[in-house]
Amino acid sequence: MSGLIMVTGAGGELGRQVVEFLLERVPADRVAALARRPETLADLAERGVSVRHGDYEEPDGLEAAFDGVEKLLLISARTFTDAKTAHRNVIHAAKAAGVRHIHYTAIQHRAGSAFVIPQVTEWDEYTEKELTASGLDVTVLRNSQYLESFDKLIGELAPDHVIRVPAAHTPTALATRGDMAEATAAVLATDGHAGHSYTLAGSRAFTLDDVAAILGELTGTPVTYQDTPIEDYVAARLQAGMPEPWAWFTGAWFQAIAAGEFTPTDDIERLIGRPTTSLRALLTQQRSR
Ligand SMILES: NC(=O)c1ccc[n+]([C@@H]2O[C@H](COP(=O)([O-])OP(=O)(O)OC[C@H]3O[C@@H](n4cnc5c(N)ncnc54)[C@H](OP(=O)(O)O)[C@@H]3O)[C@@H](O)[C@H]2O)c1
Repeated sequence: MSGLIMVTGAGGELGRQVVEFLLERVPADRVAALARRPETLADLAERGVSVRHGDYEEPDGLEAAFDGVEKLLLISARTFTDAKTAHRNVIHAAKAAGVRHIHYTAIQHRAGSAFVIPQVTEWDEYTEKELTASGLDVTVLRNSQYLESFDKLIGELAPDHVIRVPAAHTPTALATRGDMAEATAAVLATDGHAGHSYTLAGSRAFTLDDVAAILGELTGTPVTYQDTPIEDYVAARLQAGMPEPWAWFTGAWFQAIAAGEFTPTDDIERLIGRPTTSLRALLTQQRSR
């Protein structure tokens, strides 16, 4: 019999959706979910998922939590934490527990680009080196910026119907967490992915000018986009009450768009058999709630 497929961060927004899509493809008794608070996943346990307690920062408990696991999805730790240590702990415990194959959620990075997203790019480089050194089978899922979080940021920034962010006019192709989760579940549920990486981005690119045009249509009030220096963006965010480290961090994600980090790919489309959710569909859906 095949071993378990475990999703870490299973209580988070991406991990939870990966588990749900996985349950559409494999029996529940082949699925395991790791969480710091397993009681939040009681409904999954009732459906037959093996729900286990584990904290990336408590290496002693991780090896036991990975017992019987064949494939592991390591969902990256949150920003502003010691993610390098966390990821190293998970990789070492997985190896000690006999896990065969680790899948890791990195951020999309354009080939040849020197752009650095603070913390994130450095974590990915470190984690991928640790994964290679582990000798385990590895699959890297390079996720674009989430289309949902991008929309949230833009929404907060348009009270005067002008979007002021440092994204230039560069095309960007973002995918939703839901599409990434479905594609990730497709990879986890099938074989032949060891040594491969997938770029889970949108299949079509858009610019911030497109975002403004669609928002204008949806709200009935013209919206414009103004490419804005990062310093002005940060100053506006501070005035709105955002903590300074967070203001620079969110600004860097727009600069990543300006640098062309999130190029379109058809990896999700090939894995899930349909085009990715469009910008218009997502903006429409989020505003109809
Ligand atoms: N591509 C993007 O645009 C983007 C945007 C934001 C974040 N990310 C990255 O993608 C990851 C997943 O995104 P998401 O939206 O699902 O984030 P999320 O909702 O914050 O979920 C993160 C998950 O990771 C778990 N986790 C964090 N630290 C842990 C630890 N020390 N031990 C065990 N579990 C731990 C959390 O567990 P708890 O529920 O116990 O806290 C949570 O389930 C994030 O953690 C971040 O690294 C990507």
